Amino acid sequence: MKNIREIMNKRKHEDYLPPDYYIKLLKTYSFSGKTDIELFKEVLRHIPYTDKSIEFGCGTGRGTKAFLDVCPNSDLDILDLSRDMLSYSKIRYDIKDAILNDSLSFMAQCSSVYNFCFSLWSFSHSIHQNLEKFENETEGKKYVNRILKKFICENLEKNGYFFIIHFDSHSEEQTILMRQWAKKSYVYDRKEKQSLSLETILEALEELKNNGIVNYRIEHLCGDSISYENIDEAIEIFLNFHLEGVFNHCSDDEWLKIYNEVKTDLTKHITAMGKLSISPGCYTILISKN
Ligand SMILES: C[S@@+](CC[C@H](N)C(=O)[O-])C[C@H]1O[C@@H](n2cnc3c(N)ncnc32)[C@H](O)[C@@H]1O
Repeated sequence: MKNIREIMNKRKHEDYLPPDYYIKLLKTYSFSGKTDIELFKEVLRHIPYTDKSIEFGCGTGRGTKAFLDVCPNSDLDILDLSRDMLSYSKIRYDIKDAILNDSLSFMAQCSSVYNFCFSLWSFSHSIHQNLEKFENETEGKKYVNRILKKFICENLEKNGYFFIIHFDSHSEEQTILMRQWAKKSYVYDRKEKQSLSLETILEALEELKNNGIVNYRIEHLCGDSISYENIDEAIEIFLNFHLEGVFNHCSDDEWLKIYNEVKTDLTKHITAMGKLSISPGCYTILISKN
C-alpha cells in the first residue's frame, strides 16, 4: 500500500505518469470488440486531407503510431504537457515538431493552420485544468469557449476535421473516479450531469454550427468490461493511472480515506464468481469545418 503511494509521490502534476509506468498500467479499451485505436483508424480512413496535422496529448504515442500507419506521408506535429511523454513519442516516431505545452494555451496563440487535428483521451485534461483556474464555472467556460472557437475558426482549414475521444463521466469506471476528483475542484462535482469539459466543448460546437462554421457528429460508446487480476491491481490503476497520483501528496489520514473509498467502490464490482470487472465508456466527436 505504501509502495503504490510512493511510486507517484515525487511527480509534479504536469509530469503526468512516467511513460513506462503508463504502458504497464494501461488496459485495453474496446467498444463492441473494437479497440479505441481501431476505431480511430476507421475514422482516419475517411478523412480526405491529413497533410498538416496535430495531435493533442500524444502520451506514449498510441494515437501517433495509428495515425502514421494510416497516413505515413503527413506532416504531423505532436503536443503534450508532459516532457517525458513528449520526448518518448518524438524519439520513437521520429517527429520533427514536438510541442511542450498545454493544449488550450497552444491553441490560444497558434498561428499554424491544420487540416486534421486529433486528441485521444487527453483533451478533457487541458479543459478541466484550465477551468480549475477560475473561481466560477461561468468565467471558466467563457475562457475555454473563446479559445476553442478561435482555434476552429482560424487554425482549422476549410474542409478540415478535428477528432476527439472524450471520456464518459457516467461510465462505471468514471463514476468511481469523479467522486474522488470532486475533492480536488468544484469543476468535477457534476452529480447527474456529464463532465464540464464535454459540456463546454459541445456549447462551443453548437455556437459554431449555428453560425454555419462547422458540422459535428457525437456518438456515445459503451465500453467492453475491463477485468482486473485482483483488487490490488485495480487500486493501483485507479489511484496512480486514472487519478494520476494527485492524492498521494495528501496527509496520511486523507490518503487512507481515499484509498478505502476507492477500494469499497471497486469491491462493489466483484461478481459472484469472484471476478472484478468494470465498464468504461466514451464519446467520439468528429468536427468538420465548412
Ligand atoms: C490518458 S493520457 C492519453 C495519452 C494518449 N493520447 C493515449 O491515448 O494513450 C493523457 C495525456 O494527456 C497529457 N496531458 C495532460 N494534461 C495536458 C494538457 N493540459 N495539455 C496537453 N496534454 C496534457 C498527459 O501528459 C498524457 O500524456
